[in-house]
Amino acid sequence: MKLTAICVSVFSLAAATATLSAADAKVSYETLCAKCHGADGKGATTMGKKTGAKDWTDPKVQAELKDETLTKAIKEGVKDGDKSKMKAYADLSDGEVKAFVDYIRAFKK
Ligand code: HEC
Repeated sequence: MKLTAICVSVFSLAAATATLSAADAKVSYETLCAKCHGADGKGATTMGKKTGAKDWTDPKVQAELKDETLTKAIKEGVKDGDKSKMKAYADLSDGEVKAFVDYIRAFKK
């Protein structure tokens, strides 16, 4: 019984400190980002069209986007003048932001 308790606490500690895994990134992406960027990354949702989200499956779009641009957009948000196009996700850790960047890169066809 005692051993089970130790195992459980070690496991939850590991889970809490780990960075976002690929599977977690998918779940978070679909929860937080897909309503604009689309589950397929095309930005062809109602919100995506309204806000002007790009098609991340387009190799040309991907080539134009630098990793720094992606990282900055997620951490600081995207603005068009005074108007916010996308809010900042400032409370994400560097590891989580990196997991989103990798996830976005994987949309490239
Ligand atoms: C309210 C709609 C909305 C949501 C929700 C949203 N985005 Fe965006 N996102 C946008 C728009 C609009 C742009 C700007 C497109 C442009 O003009 O370049 C953008 C730009 C970006 C960029 C910069 C690259 C690019 O395509 O311009 C990244 C990276 C990004 N979003 C990631 C995310 C991630 C990750 C999430 C979820 C954590 C998310 N976005 C949630 C609307 C959204």
